[in-house]
Amino acid sequence: MALAEDLIKLLLLVLPALAANGAPVVARRIYGRGTPLDMGRKWIDGRRVLGEGKTLEGFVAGVLTGLLVGIIEGVLFSDLYWFARAGLLAGIGAMIGDLIGSFIKRRLGMERGDPAPLLDQLDFYIGALVVLYIGGYRYNLVTAVVLAPLVVILHIMTNRLAYKASLKEVPH
Ligand code: CTP
Ligand code: MG
Repeated sequence: MALAEDLIKLLLLVLPALAANGAPVVARRIYGRGTPLDMGRKWIDGRRVLGEGKTLEGFVAGVLTGLLVGIIEGVLFSDLYWFARAGLLAGIGAMIGDLIGSFIKRRLGMERGDPAPLLDQLDFYIGALVVLYIGGYRYNLVTAVVLAPLVVILHIMTNRLAYKASLKEVPH
């Protein structure tokens, strides 16, 4: 069952990224509007570099959440260092991917919170996969592609839930 093994290994690697991606939406209940990472600055096209939705507090919340999930996995699977490091890298990668996604959205003239199908759901996933790879973590790329549609569906479902729970102003 090589496929099942590949899938479980990949899931363990990306679970911290999934949690990290959702963390800012919950954590902003504590930090409020936060400190925009672009410091309000504009790009040469006159639009914000990243926008009000990408804050330092959200970034830190995401990274710490990734690390926390990694630590939990590490305790469960008795390899604290390997999993904690993976969780940290997945969290960092997810948050960087999310920033790149917003940078692209702003360059396309989209306002904060405008829906960008696939980009909104996959930027963090791709970011996490890239940073994990750079960090030396190996996974089956075909499995990662196969998992992508599931990540999209999960993202859509959790965002709708967050909207219904009044954690988000928009359902995407
Ligand atoms: N958030 C944050 N800091 C981050 C990422 C997210 O504070 N680094 C918070 C913001 O309050 C943001 C919310 O989480 O509005 C939802 O995140 P996301 O959907 O990624 O941002 P959008 O508001 O949709 O902005 P964008 O159009 O740039 O994706
Ligand atoms: Mg959004």
